[in-house]
Amino acid sequence: MTYPASGTGGQECAVVNVFSPGDHVVSIIIGNFGTRLAKIAEAYGLKVSRIEFSWGEAADPAIVEARLKELTPYKGVLMTHNETSTGVTNNIRTLASIVRTVSPEALVVVDAVSSLSSLPLEMDLWDLDVVFTGSQKGWMIPPGIMMIAASERAWQAHKNAKLPRFYWDWTSTRKQLDASWQHPTTPPVSLFYALDVALEMMLDEGREAIFARHKKAGEYVRDRVQAMGLHLLATDVRYASNTVTAIRLLKVLKPKRY
Ligand SMILES: Cc1ncc(COP(=O)(O)O)c(C=O)c1O
Repeated sequence: MTYPASGTGGQECAVVNVFSPGDHVVSIIIGNFGTRLAKIAEAYGLKVSRIEFSWGEAADPAIVEARLKELTPYKGVLMTHNETSTGVTNNIRTLASIVRTVSPEALVVVDAVSSLSSLPLEMDLWDLDVVFTGSQKGWMIPPGIMMIAASERAWQAHKNAKLPRFYWDWTSTRKQLDASWQHPTTPPVSLFYALDVALEMMLDEGREAIFARHKKAGEYVRDRVQAMGLHLLATDVRYASNTVTAIRLLKVLKPKRY
């Protein structure tokens, strides 16, 4: 489904459609956007347990597994694929498979705002339940279209989910889409024209070629940054993001006063 919204709308849309007040969820946090997702869940009255890592680190699967075992039971696990604030990419395939093993019924909710389209992410193959992204990142168009997908498990959860929702309600959105291919609210028409062009470009280039181009660009930026004597915020280059590079500034420059 698509909604007129930015990425934060995707975070809220995911939470309100599959959970009920008081539900326990686990939030795997490696930076600012993971924190935001946890805060949204709390704002809606969910009980949130955080598994937090230092900024610059990816979620450590062994720590996540141990904590998930301690924290059970929970209805869902919220995670960020590519943490834009730190330039770190989580290994979602591994994290999702841990959730499936430890708590097979828990919903895996993935923020893919700055990754989907540019980094490999296999929703069905990795058994992810809710995945959302934003038009202004790898989709190459201005902000304003949020895209969200739900698994069969997520649709089942949605049927019983009691959090208040209106704008984000999947049932009304899907009903309208099925009936007339229309949004229930005014769609961002101009952006859909832009997206049409962007998708044609992406189809021409091909998925694997797009991933390879981002990998090459990411490696190039990381090499140049380090050659300049600066440091990456990502503590382990294996998890450094190919879509966004966060750099530690050695000298904090004072702003110039006029
Ligand atoms: C991973 C991630 N999640 C959520 C957001 C929030 O999106 P927006 O600023 O479009 O509301 C962003 C924005 O950069 C993001 O990178």
